[in-house]
Amino acid sequence: MSIRTDFPVFSHHPDLVYLDSASTAQKPSRVIEGMKYHMEHGYANIHRGAYILSEESEVLYHSSKEAVVRLIHAHETAEISYCYNATAALNILSTSLIASSQLNKWDKVLLSRAEHHANIVPWLIAKQTIGIEVEFVSLDADFQLDFTDLEEKLTPNVRVIALTAASNVTGAVFDLARVRDMIRAKNPSILIIVDGSQAVPHFQLDIQALDIDYMVFTGHKLMSDTGIGILYGKKSLLKVLTPAIGGGGAINWVREDGFAPSGLPSRFEPGTPHIIGAGSLLRAIEYIESIGGYAEIERIEKDLVHYTLTKWQVFKTQHSTVKLIWTEKEEGRIWVFSFATDAMHLSDVADAFAHHSICVRAGHHCAEPLMQSQCIMGSVRMSLFLYNTHEDIDRFFQAFSDILIHGVMNIEG
Ligand SMILES: Cc1ncc(COP(=O)(O)O)c(C=O)c1O
Repeated sequence: MSIRTDFPVFSHHPDLVYLDSASTAQKPSRVIEGMKYHMEHGYANIHRGAYILSEESEVLYHSSKEAVVRLIHAHETAEISYCYNATAALNILSTSLIASSQLNKWDKVLLSRAEHHANIVPWLIAKQTIGIEVEFVSLDADFQLDFTDLEEKLTPNVRVIALTAASNVTGAVFDLARVRDMIRAKNPSILIIVDGSQAVPHFQLDIQALDIDYMVFTGHKLMSDTGIGILYGKKSLLKVLTPAIGGGGAINWVREDGFAPSGLPSRFEPGTPHIIGAGSLLRAIEYIESIGGYAEIERIEKDLVHYTLTKWQVFKTQHSTVKLIWTEKEEGRIWVFSFATDAMHLSDVADAFAHHSICVRAGHHCAEPLMQSQCIMGSVRMSLFLYNTHEDIDRFFQAFSDILIHGVMNIEG
């Protein structure tokens, strides 16, 4: 049995070539059936009920966090808060840093030019509202962080550095250990925040080994339901972080003139959480564990990256108008490939791929500063995951070639 048969979408759409997993991943039966099971057998609100259904929901929610602890090698569940998605997690974090007076006017937040808008806009909002400074570290020719530029921009007012672990456009993996060493040597009080949204589905971001301060990621790219985001924080830091959002479930007591926040991690989880989504994340992590964990993901990824880049070598000799945005190295990357072309309008290219039953993305991929730094409007992005095959990659390059040779009109006609 291949991994692909674990994903019902492919039996419902036998001709489908799904190459958009950087956007969201398809779901295995274990996740789909797990969600149905919990809604049928053990669903109620958590934290509030003494009855058995509520207790079962509570156990599910807590087990999900235990699975996240295993996945990222955190210390304990108190370090893990759930929210809506990675975007929400970054907004909660930025506003909570402000609420705690840990981020103030004139403080500087450093980002890279490869960031997703989710890790740009919350900081630009802080710039608008309280007057922080936001600066972008350049990338080198290999689309890696330019460490010389980083060193120059590490001025005394830097309070936070927030970086993606892997780019959702180029697939480049940043050397976070080197960043950490440089930051800690310069000023140990600078907070290191990592956006693990693209990395966590591919390789282990070992929190204890990396020794970073905060990390966010999003469940749906890891095969859970949408609507479940993860905020990891070091316990010592979370304890002194004032929650910028509040309400029921996140307090110890409330009076007319004040309240006391609850303990960790529920103080960052006001309101009823996405219980079934948390359960779906548990099943997704269990699924990864059942197929051999990150070792197996990395084995499949290595093979598909090698195959894609081998096909690309042939393709590029036939289509010189197409550029792969990044180097052709197999190491130091995830299985995300972006192709730029000015031979055709990008949305036409994506439509033409859809005509071939191939799902790809075309556009700026929520990384406009990266596109601007490359002086391009966007790219055609193919992104792979566990369930993809060599045949999917063959069909991608064959269709791309047809589209470029025959044009969109001919294909559709
Ligand atoms: C690197 C990166 N960060 C953050 C996000 C935002 O994820 P979400 O939309 O689930 O909040 C994405 C989504 O594509 C991403 O690729």
